[in-house]
Amino acid sequence: MYILGINAYHGDAAAALIKDGRIVAAVEEERFNRVKHCAGFPTEAVRYCLEVAGIRIEDVAHIGISRDPSAHLHKKILFAASRAAKQSKQWAVGSGQTTTAAVAVDDSGEGEEGKRGRGKGEGTNGGNGSSVEKRGPGIFRQVKDRLNNAAKVRDLRDDLALALNVTKSSLRAQFHNIEHHRAHLASSFYVSPFERAALLSIDGFGDFISTMWAVGEGNSIKVLDQVEYPHSTGIVYTATTQFIGFPHYGDEGKVMGLAPYGQPRYIEEFRDIIRTEARGQFRLNLDYFRHHAEGVDMTWDQGSPIIGRIFSDEFVQTFGPARERGGALTEREQDIAASLQLRLEEVGFHVLNHLHQQTGLTDLGLSGGVAYNSVMNGKILLNTPFRRVYVQPAAGDSGTALGVCYEIHNGILKLERGEVMLGAYTGPEFSNDEIRTELESSGLVFETLSDDAVTKSAAQDIADGLVVGWFQGRMEFGPRALGNRSIVVDPRRANMKDILNDRIKKREPFRPFAPSILEERTADYFEQSHPAPTMLMVYHVREERRGELPAVTHVDGSGRLQTVSREVNPRYYQLISDFNELTGVPVVLNTSFNENEPIVCTPKHAIDCFLKTRMDVLYVGNHVLRRKSEK
Ligand SMILES: [Fe+2]
Repeated sequence: MYILGINAYHGDAAAALIKDGRIVAAVEEERFNRVKHCAGFPTEAVRYCLEVAGIRIEDVAHIGISRDPSAHLHKKILFAASRAAKQSKQWAVGSGQTTTAAVAVDDSGEGEEGKRGRGKGEGTNGGNGSSVEKRGPGIFRQVKDRLNNAAKVRDLRDDLALALNVTKSSLRAQFHNIEHHRAHLASSFYVSPFERAALLSIDGFGDFISTMWAVGEGNSIKVLDQVEYPHSTGIVYTATTQFIGFPHYGDEGKVMGLAPYGQPRYIEEFRDIIRTEARGQFRLNLDYFRHHAEGVDMTWDQGSPIIGRIFSDEFVQTFGPARERGGALTEREQDIAASLQLRLEEVGFHVLNHLHQQTGLTDLGLSGGVAYNSVMNGKILLNTPFRRVYVQPAAGDSGTALGVCYEIHNGILKLERGEVMLGAYTGPEFSNDEIRTELESSGLVFETLSDDAVTKSAAQDIADGLVVGWFQGRMEFGPRALGNRSIVVDPRRANMKDILNDRIKKREPFRPFAPSILEERTADYFEQSHPAPTMLMVYHVREERRGELPAVTHVDGSGRLQTVSREVNPRYYQLISDFNELTGVPVVLNTSFNENEPIVCTPKHAIDCFLKTRMDVLYVGNHVLRRKSEK
């Protein structure tokens, strides 16, 4: 039985397909249409899922989307009513403003406005994302609209029929709205190795909730508690990221990379901005934010989501003027980043310690855009009683497409658990013959190697200091390249960071590059050894090893590692093993295979990237292309 899950109408649109509990495919739309964090409907991703399964949409039994307009409706109405009361009180005292204040009640992203790509939606990638709209003060109209829309799946049916060029009547599947955080929770439990686990989903917002925790057991998830709109760690991170002068969707990772350069001298200010309360709860000091009162635009007219300003003038009062985009990064920005990061960790551990207390469990499933904060994740074992952590590889909203599939399979249909998702290799793959055809049509000179020779040759190139494109097997799901769509270089060479930035990546110089290490050697190089197969944990490199790995050791001695096992990715494991044979170092530097665009998907994307950058050599399947000046 096939189940199709969809994340649509906000950042990182994606589709996933499972068959009898096993993952057939899961992929983000951006990889096909080449629009970063693409919002809207995942047309190409859905088509790919069906194509790889060799089925038509008529063969799919269940289709779900990771939003439920009817979820938490009473809370939305209560919030809207309380805002309306405040508004009318303000008007009654004659503020003199011709206000356009809106009430951010609708975070579902549904409706005609949302489909045109303006005004609503959710973006929770990387701790991103408000899900709010900007409208006039017709608050009760909004509530009425919301009631009218509740539980409808009209948009999904329409768009799916359009995307697949079929009539709506041919969509025979049963349709489901899966509440946003339930989809996140499902994505971190049903494919985890745990039979029973504590679960935390933490993001900007989705379906009016920013944080939800639960217990998963067998094929059910029991929600324990939640933090509601407008209080959100993701909102704090995104607002501060904007204030520091990084306006793009998903820029939160840059601030995480900046934080180790600073001192948390604003920690008391951030403790005031986000306050912890009993029973794992937290609240924002709303003086610092606009989203709850004025609404914040989110648009995706150009494809990539754009979020309007979330921070209020109170930020300026406290920290001084916001940094202009492209302006100098001073100690102030570094210290704000450090304070923000520290406060996020404090709040995160506050929630997690409560979750442990509530459940008594030591296994944790983690999801939501804030779970991309790998620095926080890496400290969970040090700051909470949790002993094993499974982070959904696509922890942000793309992963809800997969969560939808499993919530239907396990939570609704009560079928048996089907799969442990150890890696994230669920996207398109290409045979050596297909790649050869592409190379021949490009008119490029290449050679073809045996399986054994491919990894040996690439390892030698890396050891020789070349910049190596490494395109193999199925593309990764989620934001990290994990050795199938990667650029791989020698971590022992301190200048490699500059070489990569100069020739290909053009990233801000303060951002670190990441190491991939043979899993069994992790403890030799890092202070923690809990597996991190999808690069969502940051650990400290052992002090005595830092000199050995200058290109992947961040300014504070940390590294966002990927632990690589033969079981999960045999060819990448072999590559690192061969590099270790040559150099005695079981580590390579791994960065995503792209310039400043979504990670490459097809051999053609890889070849184009190879040609337009100054990459030295490209391994694409068993074929090798070399830039002429090399070797
Ligand atoms: Fe989310």
